[in-house]
Amino acid sequence: MNRRPFIAGNWKMHKTGQQAVQTATRLAELCSDLTDPEVMIAPTSLSLPLVAKALENTPVKVGAQNLHFEKQGAFTGEISAEMIKAAGAEYILIGHSERRQYFGETDESVCKKIKAALEAGLKPVLCIGETQEQREEKNTYLVLDKQVSNGLKRFGLEELSDLVLAYEPVWAIGTGLTASIEQVAQVHKHLRSLLEDLFSKDLADRTRILYGGSVKPENVKDLMGIEDVDGALVGGASLDADNFINIIKYNE
Ligand code: PGA
Repeated sequence: MNRRPFIAGNWKMHKTGQQAVQTATRLAELCSDLTDPEVMIAPTSLSLPLVAKALENTPVKVGAQNLHFEKQGAFTGEISAEMIKAAGAEYILIGHSERRQYFGETDESVCKKIKAALEAGLKPVLCIGETQEQREEKNTYLVLDKQVSNGLKRFGLEELSDLVLAYEPVWAIGTGLTASIEQVAQVHKHLRSLLEDLFSKDLADRTRILYGGSVKPENVKDLMGIEDVDGALVGGASLDADNFINIIKYNE
């Protein structure tokens, strides 16, 4: 099965609108000759429309980092899937561990957010991962299986045709610690067979599974060499376009 490699940058709470446009513009320049991989950046919601405009007619796509599951209403401080789509996003990160850890995101809200995203025509990137403690207690698969099955429980095969899954061990995010090649290989293989059990072989074969957690130019090639790794979700190392391009062009 030919899955198009996908490298995504998560800019978290970094960069003003102007700084975001500057970095995005530089990244687009560096990607001008790119056919593969597919590239996406997720700036803050405030920068999103500016970045989307700056990236029009370039190979670099835009995503958002979070959404509210309601369409509209009295939800001070929140933004809806429709607003994100109208601002020019194609993708949406859902269930990032920082949202689960600091903002009370649960599998239940993740599921509702995926539904809202799909209804608005956004492609969800469902983020899952175990904490250090959960890994040490040998609960990694238990945790991941629950996050995937609860997050996706309301959906049918057709709805999930554009789903992207991102495995990000919490202990590897922003810590400089990367999961070992063996750990990543095992988990990604497990996740693909989980998708097959829950949905179908075809969906499992088609779904891109990204790895995230301290991905950098030095380790991306080995990670991308793993059979079931179809891309990377990159935080810190995506903030500088001239650094990020070395991840994007991991094959050169
Ligand atoms: P990191 O973040 O690359 O800085 O570890 C990854 C992420 O949180 O998506």
